[in-house]
Amino acid sequence: MRVLVIHGPNLNLLGARETNIYGNKTLDDINRDITDLASELGINVRTIQLNGEGDILDVIQKSDYDALIINPAAYTHTSVAIRDAISAVNKPAVEVHLSNIHKREEFRRKSFIAEVAAGQISGFGPDSYLLGLRAVKSILSGRQ
Ligand code: DQA
Repeated sequence: MRVLVIHGPNLNLLGARETNIYGNKTLDDINRDITDLASELGINVRTIQLNGEGDILDVIQKSDYDALIINPAAYTHTSVAIRDAISAVNKPAVEVHLSNIHKREEFRRKSFIAEVAAGQISGFGPDSYLLGLRAVKSILSGRQ
């Protein structure tokens, strides 16, 4: 099971950025937790952070993986291109967010990604990624 985790724009600033919303963990801390859980679950995981929309499209289109976990960050609310790329590759995708996007500003409630994702996990801080990993494991094992 090869799982690709994509962190979108500005998530490289975690730990310093709006800590009241996103918490104190850095992206390295989060990636370490993802990698630890992945090895427990027998998942081969690769994590990558990208600020550019086109870079995200390239990774979605060109990488080898069985399922995708993506926090598209601000592109969640704007990017038809990322939505179309996920739809085009036709692999299970789980959308994750640290914050609960439905509890914040109105513009964050719309996700272009949700309709092409297997599901959305939003509001559990860094645990959203770990829950996403468990969801992907269930999907790939045919339990969902
Ligand atoms: C986010 C929520 C988005 O609205 C925001 O633009 C982000 C992070 C989250 O993980 O909570 O950058 O995706």
